[in-house]
Amino acid sequence: MKQWVRVSLSIAAGLGIAALGAIANSSGAVEGHSGAPGETNCTECHIGTANSGPGKVTVELVNASSYTPGQTYRVRITIDDSAATRRGFQLSVRPDSNPRISAGKLATVNANAQILPGGTQEWATHTLAGQRTASANPGIFELDWTAPAADAGPITFFAAGNAANGNGNESGDRIYTTTLKVAPATTTAGPSASFAAAGVTDAWNGRQGIAPGMLVSISGTELASAPASWSPTTLRALDTTVGGVKVKVNTTDAAVVSVSADRILFIAPADAPEGDVNIIVERDGTPSAPVSVRSAAARPAILGVADPDNAGRYFATAVPAGQAGLLGLIQARGSVLGRPEADSRAVRGVLPGEEVDLIVTGLGKTASDFTTSRLIPSPIALGATPKVNFGGTSVDASSAVLAAPGVYIVRVKVPDSVTAGDIALTVDLNGATSGDNVRLTVARQ
Ligand code: HEC
Repeated sequence: MKQWVRVSLSIAAGLGIAALGAIANSSGAVEGHSGAPGETNCTECHIGTANSGPGKVTVELVNASSYTPGQTYRVRITIDDSAATRRGFQLSVRPDSNPRISAGKLATVNANAQILPGGTQEWATHTLAGQRTASANPGIFELDWTAPAADAGPITFFAAGNAANGNGNESGDRIYTTTLKVAPATTTAGPSASFAAAGVTDAWNGRQGIAPGMLVSISGTELASAPASWSPTTLRALDTTVGGVKVKVNTTDAAVVSVSADRILFIAPADAPEGDVNIIVERDGTPSAPVSVRSAAARPAILGVADPDNAGRYFATAVPAGQAGLLGLIQARGSVLGRPEADSRAVRGVLPGEEVDLIVTGLGKTASDFTTSRLIPSPIALGATPKVNFGGTSVDASSAVLAAPGVYIVRVKVPDSVTAGDIALTVDLNGATSGDNVRLTVARQ
């Protein structure tokens, strides 16, 4: 039979030279002999039975075992048969879903191979030069393969190789075939965050549920891969992804304050409706199961420190009126009113008749300019008057403002009638009351 001479029009066109004169000496196997479905292999002409010799042909993607759509991979065909003196191959790449068309695009990387285009199919085969270059064992041919632009499901590489004896005809050569199946790369899903409705509480008093603008705590497991905090600036919207963690309330991305493996703090979005809402924690792109929690118009909670003797109880932290304006101040020893035994920053309890600022979350929407996605340039009036109950004596707040995302300041005069000691303290707004687990320390005058 006559040797098949391939004229690679694509290479010629690429070089801008006359096809025939330049590369008429390229040889290779005629298309349709890679062993793909509907094809034969080299044994159609070369005498013998495929895969009956001692060697083998292998196909691999260099440094890859799966494909990402659109990405280019190096394909290596190895013809391993030590008795051979010449080697050639043919390769085609087909989607398992439709093996009669080619998947992706093959390209040469050197002169040892050529591409045979054929409508919706293409093949790669050796050149005359490649057949000679591959005289040593094993013979290696390389190509580039660019995966389809979109996920095409599993794809199979079909290859046939000839470990030839160099006698210039079809006798005495050994033919081998092989396949390589590659699947689209799946983004290996990392651990997903896990929490329950009982773990979704206000940040300070541990009561279940949320309200628009509330500083919310989620307790759970695998919530984040590493601790991280937001870095709010007036120049842009508050971060909704911190440390790779997102919190969705229904479909809204919440501003995230801080994350760690077992706790997330976030600001419930302004548009959280009343009733049941779904909360999803997305960790590094992997969403948790949705957790249904109750959202109320308001759900007050008072900043405090944990009662060291009673789990789940808190001592309120107050500051003399006007000193909470800069929240940094509440860290400073000397301005904090509370229970010195429980709070090292506290200098004393509040005094009867003293005007103090309570730091509160969960008071809901302000009458205007309500936002949970930006820092607040100056305090926004709540537009409603909370009541503060001091051990049974309820008084109207003298003012209430949203001072920072999630943080409200309620200014109130401690009734003259309160007696020294630890008294129950609640903040009430339109029937929503903070928990009965907060006490305020009243100092002796
Ligand atoms: C249509 C018939 C035909 C098919 C199919 C065919 N060949 Fe060949 N091949 C020949 C003929 C004829 C020769 C001898 C003439 C020559 O060397 O060019 C040959 C020679 C060769 C040689 C040189 C052999 C030597 O001993 O010198 C190699 C290498 C080769 N073919 C590779 C392949 C591969 C790989 C395939 C399958 C992918 C293949 N051929 C399929 C007809 C074919």
